[in-house]
Amino acid sequence: MVTTNPVAIVTGASSGIGLGITQALIAQNYRIVATSRTISKSKDLQASENLILIDGDIGKKGVAVKIAEAAISKFGRIDLLINNAGMFMSKPFTDYTEDDFSVMISTNVASFFYMTQQVIAQMQRQKEGHVVSISTTLVDQPLAGVPASLPVLTKSAMPVMSKELAIEYARDNIRFNTVSPGTVNTPMHANEDHAQLNKLSPLNRLAEISEIVDAILYLQSAKFVTGENIRVDGGAHAGRW
Ligand SMILES: NC(=O)c1ccc[n+]([C@@H]2O[C@H](COP(=O)([O-])OP(=O)(O)OC[C@H]3O[C@@H](n4cnc5c(N)ncnc54)[C@H](OP(=O)(O)O)[C@@H]3O)[C@@H](O)[C@H]2O)c1
Repeated sequence: MVTTNPVAIVTGASSGIGLGITQALIAQNYRIVATSRTISKSKDLQASENLILIDGDIGKKGVAVKIAEAAISKFGRIDLLINNAGMFMSKPFTDYTEDDFSVMISTNVASFFYMTQQVIAQMQRQKEGHVVSISTTLVDQPLAGVPASLPVLTKSAMPVMSKELAIEYARDNIRFNTVSPGTVNTPMHANEDHAQLNKLSPLNRLAEISEIVDAILYLQSAKFVTGENIRVDGGAHAGRW
């Protein structure tokens, strides 16, 4: 059967924001390649005709190649890439170790670099495509009491690289956008004090996963928006409060 349903790749799809956007895209009849290190063991997602699950470390080029090849060979196209897999690590700057640096660069930067590289040629063939990357509002507005220089170092690449690529590939009608959340109510913060986390936003609460999903879906629908960075942070980037 020939189908024109759009095709998405979602990284970090086993949990939190990645799981939320995968479920939202399934509800919109997308065909999806969902990936994380453990996604084949997910209790929330089951492989099907329209959902491929691929395990792997997204910081490795070979994993990115496998994911893109699966989307093209099974579904024939790639309409949307969501670079969502990522990690956070809060420490004073001088406490970060060589291993911390290495794993954060791999998970937050190499993932973006290799995965985005792999979708471009197919999107050029289609003369259409969209890449949304998940950064953090801390890049714009560091917080006293939340030392996060390594997350900022590794996540600041996304909004600036999305602008660069938006210009480089505009002629191919490929769009690149960023969503920068504040603190989101995901398993990443399951064991933290939410009353304290609420104070990190002027609106005095965490974002819900659905609010990040809404921003991604808006960008996917907004065909004249590229190079943009939407902060979904209850106003944290706007100033002091
Ligand atoms: N939650 C927040 O407050 C917040 C705020 C700002 C930005 N963000 C960003 O939003 C994104 C999603 O965060 P979240 O809160 O939804 O996190 P989460 O619930 O911890 O989920 C992280 C996802 O990334 C995957 N992952 C982690 N390292 C990986 C690796 N090396 N290779 C492949 N997959 C990997 C995890 O799956 P496996 O363990 O199966 O690999 C999981 O699916 C991240 O980029 C994060 O930095 C989150």
